[in-house]
Amino acid sequence: MNLRAPAKINLYLEVLGVRPDGYHRLKTLFARISWADEICLRLRPCGLTVRTHPPELFPQRKNLCRAAALALQREAGVRAGARVLLKKKIPIGAGLGGGSSDAAAVLKGLCRLWKLPLPIPRLARLGARLGSDVCFFLYDTPYAVGTGRGEHILPLRPQKIKTYWIVLLFPRFSLSTREVYGNLRKFQRLPNPNLTAPANLDRLRFHLERGSFLENWVDFLFNRLEDVVVPSYPEIGHIQRSLQKLGASQARLSGSGSCVFGLFSSRSQAIRTARALRSYPWECRIARMG
Ligand code: C5P
Repeated sequence: MNLRAPAKINLYLEVLGVRPDGYHRLKTLFARISWADEICLRLRPCGLTVRTHPPELFPQRKNLCRAAALALQREAGVRAGARVLLKKKIPIGAGLGGGSSDAAAVLKGLCRLWKLPLPIPRLARLGARLGSDVCFFLYDTPYAVGTGRGEHILPLRPQKIKTYWIVLLFPRFSLSTREVYGNLRKFQRLPNPNLTAPANLDRLRFHLERGSFLENWVDFLFNRLEDVVVPSYPEIGHIQRSLQKLGASQARLSGSGSCVFGLFSSRSQAIRTARALRSYPWECRIARMG
């Protein structure tokens, strides 16, 4: 069984406060994009083998594919095994949710392979234990609002699907989500008195559900984590300015970074900008959103 595990970007991310368990309460808007990891699953009579390509990606304990397969085996009392091959395309530590998407794809794929009729809410409870972003990828939706620590998902139901284009720039260094949130707590009062009006998230939602022109909603994009990431990593600000100078309607950090995305209403504009960025030292990709 061959699966695609797509990446996400956050079109909106506000941090509302700290929870007793140390996680942060969020209000976020996830968008699925076309850049994806590839996963191949094979049925085995017993045991689990997980391989990655390239091979030395992460120590076994950090491999969310393995964690997801083991958690599902335990949850459903499965005796059968599987072979998982992960072809990693999405950069790690980039704020694109690659590891979470891999975990969600493995959960859904193994349910089919092992013939387990687990409903999505039950898989989501399992997924939430693996990572805050896993649940978004379990719902087959282009956009969703995430609350709680990001694991409570409200899928948007666009009445009209419109494709938007993004240029993604990866500065070739990774950021630790834990560290970024830790710095936010250190340097900002939480809950923050300057919270962006949650109305902006509702406006974004309204426009995405109607497939509005980019110009109508692009100014509502927001990411609170930029407050701590941009001052610590000036290169991120440099990427944002370069993208905007070269025609992106808006350039924002995705999740806790380090990837920055610029939005475009046409593919040709995105290609032109990506070409102009060829001489810069960052890894550049074009992807579809919506
Ligand atoms: O849930 P996940 O494992 O992806 O989170 C990684 C780290 O990011 C957590 O250990 C926590 O430090 C931080 N985090 C947070 N609040 C969230 C999501 C993540 O503090 N809502």
